Amino acid sequence: MTSTHIDQPLRISVIGCGYLGAVHAAAMAEIGHEVVGLDVDERRVEMLSRGDAPFHEPGFGELLERNLATGRLSFGTSYADIAQCDVHFLALGTPQRGDGLGADLSHITQAMESLLPHLRERNGKRTLVVGKSTVPVGTARELSALLSELPGVELLWNPEFLREGFAVADTLTPDRLVYGVADPEQSSASEAVLDRVYARQLEQGIPRRVYNYESAELVKVSANSFLATKISFINAIAELCDITGADVADVAEAVGMDDRIGRKFLQAGIGFGGGCLPKDLRGLISRAGELGAVDSFAFLREIDTINTGRRDYALQIVRRHFSGDLNGRRITVLGAAFKPNTDDIRDSPALDVALRLLVEGAVMTITDPAAAEAVRMRHPGLTVTTSTTEALEGAEMVLLLTEWPEYRSLDPVAAAGLVTAPAILDGRNVLDLGSWRDAGWHAIGMGRR
Ligand code: UDX
Repeated sequence: MTSTHIDQPLRISVIGCGYLGAVHAAAMAEIGHEVVGLDVDERRVEMLSRGDAPFHEPGFGELLERNLATGRLSFGTSYADIAQCDVHFLALGTPQRGDGLGADLSHITQAMESLLPHLRERNGKRTLVVGKSTVPVGTARELSALLSELPGVELLWNPEFLREGFAVADTLTPDRLVYGVADPEQSSASEAVLDRVYARQLEQGIPRRVYNYESAELVKVSANSFLATKISFINAIAELCDITGADVADVAEAVGMDDRIGRKFLQAGIGFGGGCLPKDLRGLISRAGELGAVDSFAFLREIDTINTGRRDYALQIVRRHFSGDLNGRRITVLGAAFKPNTDDIRDSPALDVALRLLVEGAVMTITDPAAAEAVRMRHPGLTVTTSTTEALEGAEMVLLLTEWPEYRSLDPVAAAGLVTAPAILDGRNVLDLGSWRDAGWHAIGMGRR
């Protein structure tokens, strides 16, 4: 990847330097813009300023270093530092509220309050505020009212679709660019400014669509809820496979050959987690309820229930294996992150299962190539290691719950030599169970023959 300068660089701020914001800031600098990333967390700002990635994301460290070195990218904590920017991206977290299923918008509203006085200083110079965060439908129009008194300042909503583990590529070359505006019938000068931001992507032919705010907001939650639905659907089929003797890998393979359906996101196992799919699904259920569409979204509650049920199902398999008594049993979990190629443990199915087995009296070891440190800090009851060999030694049962490449390619013969009893649950359906059985393992899948 090389930096290419664009003709008309802009001064850009990215408010909120979490996963989404930090990657977005570095990617905007990579394109050639002058970027300031802002965050209230001083430690994070210090780390980013020295070129230290605060999270594990392939390619991000290099992108960060390269763009800090050009001088186009910097990080800070003060809104005064961004007062002269032409474009402000809002990349703040919208986690699930503590008191319900809906999204907590407090970070966004606080950021808007802090930003407003600085927007006034621009004296009518065209300024864009661009929302990237995932928000309940209706949020952008409400926020845009806050800007109505400010001439030349306009709000656009430009949802982000990046996947953790592929964040850099997804930000630099997204599948599509969606601009949400107040009224798509009226072409606005602000759209042209956002086109300048994304000049390189547009030159590459990446499709761009301009919708009203509400459609743009709904694109994001619909996409994530649909992906969640695909996963829970195949997981429900997996349950039926276990009852009937069918194999969910075969079913998914042939169903996925229909290109109206596709094979992606039909990987059955212990289900989805992370900072987005569960939260966005629940956020949509909550918002639909507020808007009077409760019944039509009842099925999404089932999608959530099927998903969390997969963790219960994995626990049942383990309990059954030990005839109901887990006390003192040495169990090893391979993988702690919610998926491979990240150190993110938010709503991680693997970690959830490990913690629940710990509560039932098992002696738990968990290993992960990237997330071990995060687990060690938060969950002292678990024995944590980054060494797969160490984790396997003495185990009476192994659970593969996050499909990192090193676990997928484990040698069953060598692994059998390390454990006390060769029993494995493949909670992600990525192992060739036949070769594990040939090596003497009691190998169980989820919906596999
Ligand atoms: C998701 C969306 O994919 C992305 O477009 C959006 O911007 C943010 O939310 P992410 O949270 O990074 O991205 O994870 P994703 O790759 O979608 O996986 C979510 C979860 O589903 C993981 O726990 C994964 O293990 C699980 N999953 C995925 C399955 O169980 N089966 C599958 O077939 C696919």
